[in-house]
Amino acid sequence: MTLYKKGKIWYHKKVPRTLVLSAAALVNSFFEFYSLCEFLVVRRYVVAFVIESKICAKNFSTLNFSLFGCGTCKFGRAEFVLISFLRGDFSTMEKKPFVTLEKVREISKTFPTPFHIYDERGIRENARRVKKAFSWNKGFKEYFAVKATPNPFLIDILKQEGCGVDCSSMTELYMADRMGFSAKDMKDGIMFSSNATPAEEFVYAKKLGAIINLDDFTHVEFLEKTAGIPERICCRYNPGGNFTISTTIMDKPGDAKYGMTKEQITEAYRLLKDKGVKEFGIHAFLASNTVTNEYYPTLARELFKLAAELKEKTGANITFINLSGGIGIPYRPDQEGNNIEIIGEGVRKVYEEVLVPAGMGDVAIYTELGRFMMGPYGALVTKALHAKHIYKEYIGCDACAVNLMRPAMYGSYHHITVLGKEKEPCDHKYDITGSLCENNDKFAIDRMLPRIDLGDYLYIHDTGAHGFSMGYNYNGKLRSAELLLREDGEVQMIRRAETIEDYLATFDFCDIFKKQ
Ligand SMILES: Cc1ncc(COP(=O)(O)O)c(C=O)c1O
Repeated sequence: MTLYKKGKIWYHKKVPRTLVLSAAALVNSFFEFYSLCEFLVVRRYVVAFVIESKICAKNFSTLNFSLFGCGTCKFGRAEFVLISFLRGDFSTMEKKPFVTLEKVREISKTFPTPFHIYDERGIRENARRVKKAFSWNKGFKEYFAVKATPNPFLIDILKQEGCGVDCSSMTELYMADRMGFSAKDMKDGIMFSSNATPAEEFVYAKKLGAIINLDDFTHVEFLEKTAGIPERICCRYNPGGNFTISTTIMDKPGDAKYGMTKEQITEAYRLLKDKGVKEFGIHAFLASNTVTNEYYPTLARELFKLAAELKEKTGANITFINLSGGIGIPYRPDQEGNNIEIIGEGVRKVYEEVLVPAGMGDVAIYTELGRFMMGPYGALVTKALHAKHIYKEYIGCDACAVNLMRPAMYGSYHHITVLGKEKEPCDHKYDITGSLCENNDKFAIDRMLPRIDLGDYLYIHDTGAHGFSMGYNYNGKLRSAELLLREDGEVQMIRRAETIEDYLATFDFCDIFKKQ
């Protein structure tokens, strides 16, 4: 190996260290300049690429590097090596599995792969950090977005940590009820944030005492006719246009189907007030998976200003503001994760600046996080079953998109660790695939990894949210088991794997299979 690392910097044996350091400083200021010009994304991808190949790939001569899917540029060996050690700071480049190869070997004796596994300690520690970061707000409550990870064992952990639940469907409401979130002593245990809502869901949500979050102005009348208007209600806001932080477009609410315009929410408040509503809330979800500490404070400013305006215009008694989900996680090893303490403090400052002077210093802050609460604390473990060599190198696993749909659906990056080979050079380029008859059934494309042997366990990171829950049954494939790594190191099954009988269970109304 000609490269070695000291502190945060990579060096090359043949290049003097002083040269590397001064060049690093130069390149960093160059990158800082470009980041101002929104070249940050490019920088990140360059670094991501470098990290992916862990700088130790042997044949650098011409590696293709697809830049944001909009073109391909070639990095010759010289530029590649230069970028890699000049950029220097790879302190966040490592992603560590929370189970070892030995542990996985032991687990798989009882629970065959593939399986999703979750880390109780990580979930609890993170939930406590979130709570603490917002402890300045007396009424703060996190309503975990059930859709992210609808497993009652995991939700129960969050319940013990003081969280409520955010439900989006009848089934989620039913589960919340069965888990005791609607109990009298669980004051305000359920938020119901749905859209295109069927009448029976409103009726059920109201019966459970859930806080109903109205997605549309027309739902005021719909709710009145179906379930009746409760004394406390929330309305979802959509400011339209682009949601930007500085000059960066985070998302495009103007293209999203959710929420009401400012005129509509104002009118809805007036109408609801006339119909007897005593307490109001505001909700908005304007950008997803944001890996920046600025998202919540920026959103909060917009919602706090709106709250003050609504109070003034309608006289409504606004008692809570729900910042919803959207705080992201660093799926890529080069990404710097969000800092929830900075985020909480950022929201506090805006609260002091906007709400307190408006005489609204007692408004409770709610969140509805999913990904941030669970994402990093879940992993999909799968075994390499086949190696195929055609125009590319393929590794076929026993998991497929049915177990984790994000890469197939959004082209999302999920980091992969070949367990037991963490220290080996990433000098093989693979497509890591499942067995579906779908060419997008790939967990990774052109990924530089250590040599994979059949039987190796692949640990797919950050599947704890919107992972298992997005599963489906295409090709008659079955959903895997879910396991929990307890704080004491024990592994507990928290959902069994589906069986063929489960798959066929919806034919139990007839004897179609008995005829054969
Ligand atoms: C209404 C609502 N709240 C909260 C969430 C959770 O979002 P995230 O997992 O990005 O935090 C979602 C996700 O789709 C959502 O639709």
